Amino acid sequence: MPSYPALDLSELRNKSVLITGAGGCIGAWAIKLLNDGGAHPVALDISDDRSRLDLIMEDASKVTWELGDITDYESVLALSKKHDVQAIIHLAALQVPYCKADPVGSTAINVMGSIHMLETARQLGLTRLTYASSIAAPAMHADNDYLATLYGAHKVCGEQMAAVYWQDWQVPSIGIRPCVVYGPGRDRGMSAAPTIALLAAWANRDYTIPFTGPVTYVHAEDAAARFVAAICQEQSSAPVFNLDVEPTETQAIVDLCNARFTKSKIKASGGQLPFPANSSDGQLDAHLGLEPYRDFRQGIEDTLAVFANASQRNVLNNELINELIERNL
Ligand SMILES: NC(=O)c1ccc[n+]([C@@H]2O[C@H](COP(=O)([O-])OP(=O)(O)OC[C@H]3O[C@@H](n4cnc5c(N)ncnc54)[C@H](O)[C@@H]3O)[C@@H](O)[C@H]2O)c1
Repeated sequence: MPSYPALDLSELRNKSVLITGAGGCIGAWAIKLLNDGGAHPVALDISDDRSRLDLIMEDASKVTWELGDITDYESVLALSKKHDVQAIIHLAALQVPYCKADPVGSTAINVMGSIHMLETARQLGLTRLTYASSIAAPAMHADNDYLATLYGAHKVCGEQMAAVYWQDWQVPSIGIRPCVVYGPGRDRGMSAAPTIALLAAWANRDYTIPFTGPVTYVHAEDAAARFVAAICQEQSSAPVFNLDVEPTETQAIVDLCNARFTKSKIKASGGQLPFPANSSDGQLDAHLGLEPYRDFRQGIEDTLAVFANASQRNVLNNELINELIERNL
């Protein structure tokens, strides 16, 4: 599997890093990268579902796991003290469709949960905090035609709260706005379909991606590496960066799947995703000192290699494949 030699975790060796939303797609990869680099990841998630970690690593059961809810500030602070947390990667959130389905509950998680992480950093005097915003945040500005979502509003609020925590209390942070993440572990949310299409093709199943057009696809490990790199050094400001790559036509994934896997039929239909698909401005990687992202074709190959490896270990079996496809119909 690909590794990140450019990721210098020497300042975090044996130190505890709290990852909220650790059981999610980006969280699972962040745990793996931290583990591989000699840090001590402390997973915080409302669920003990380690299936995404199992897909990409062999010893997920050994990861320190706190079953908890980021809406409970006292317990977040207490567990952070218990583990002597030195850095936070804040990823826990509900995505677009789940926010629409539960406006009040999702605001508690996405907004109150985010201030709890900022306040935990303030109370502990942390200088290493990164959090996930989204390309859905700039879509909220009035000067464009992109879709306004409650999720996007939550992410704007998160960015603005982080800016005030720097201004008023000098709590530094790095906000990262991922575009569309694909690859092992990406199995829920509005834009998970291309990864599910790849899985379906690999498993000889038919699948239709419910959108078309250009999308900025970033591999989940590349996304996670940016969050990990953001806490590798102490910070002294509160910038927000886009996490973009060169846009790829969704049809290119369809063609690639159909050329490679002839027992399945993959299609894409519908309009474009209602979010920006811009080329990278390079500012995030310049700030973090990282190499550019992997090529999209390489990302597909890497994803298929993870599927094959997980299948050999019987982690990725028919039951899970059926469940993932059903979830994304
Ligand atoms: N995946 C993408 O394409 C994408 C794009 C833009 C932004 N983001 C942002 O990146 C972050 C991570 O995305 P992901 O794809 O890994 O998400 P995901 O949906 O795969 O995982 C989110 C995790 O958060 C956990 N969680 C939910 N509520 C919680 C709570 N109250 N307390 C603790 N844990 C809770 C869930 O159990 C889940 O494991 C999110 O903030 C998301 O908004 C993702």
